[in-house]
Amino acid sequence: MNNKPIGVFDSGLGGLTAVKEIINVLPNEDIIYFGDTARVPYGSRSSETIIKYAKQDISFLKSFDIKIILAACGTVSSVALPEIPCDKVRVVGVVEPAAIAAVKATKNKKIAVLGTKGTIDSKAYETEIKKLMPDAKITSIACPMFVHLVENGYSEHEATYLIAKEYLKQVIDNGADTVILGCTHYPMLKKVISKVLGENVSLIDVGKAAANYLKEILDTENKLSELKKPSYEFYVSDAKGGFEDLAKLFLKRDLGALKSVDIDKIKED
Ligand code: DGL
Repeated sequence: MNNKPIGVFDSGLGGLTAVKEIINVLPNEDIIYFGDTARVPYGSRSSETIIKYAKQDISFLKSFDIKIILAACGTVSSVALPEIPCDKVRVVGVVEPAAIAAVKATKNKKIAVLGTKGTIDSKAYETEIKKLMPDAKITSIACPMFVHLVENGYSEHEATYLIAKEYLKQVIDNGADTVILGCTHYPMLKKVISKVLGENVSLIDVGKAAANYLKEILDTENKLSELKKPSYEFYVSDAKGGFEDLAKLFLKRDLGALKSVDIDKIKED
């Protein structure tokens, strides 16, 4: 048993989709969340910048006494984590759990990956899937407009449907039966994506896959918490105001108190 909190971070508030899943499968865990709202988006930035930011985010979470960290951000998991050395506090990303879930789900070995430009350019999901299923046929598509559509409340709008139809043409042409929603925001687009691809295509929610993976790790390492009333703390790097509505959209519940942190002052780990 280990009652220390789980640390979760993201480029912004999208990672709350993963927190929602962690609360579902690990209801006795304390969680400390950091969203880098002052520097979001990461998805279109250079690898150097994403790595630098991720190191600071991790360093901030390590200032608490935590037992494990989840990088809920698809971009950080793909671009930065492979470049960050392991140390005492394990940092888990969403790529490996999502690849495992996709390989389990596919029947025709045709898998598609959707993500930010940084995620798709890194080929991280492809590499991980190929390790598990070398003969998998993978279609990778950057969907840069999805994040903005979600953040502006267009998750189920007709305009989003039209854009999704455009982005997903290749997925349909290549016959993928499984699609990794490789970004924090894309679970919000499940309805629209399913409408375009049809109900028979399995959609892999990376936050959900990562939450199950965390549970497995903590269970195996005998580190599950037994807290009856766990607490959740949320930190952002921009001024606190105006984030409640966006946070509610991702977390599907009230956030409670948000605290601010000046992430530029945090030294890289
Ligand atoms: N959190 C990012 C991801 O999952 C999306 C937003 C961004 O570009 O920072 O890739």
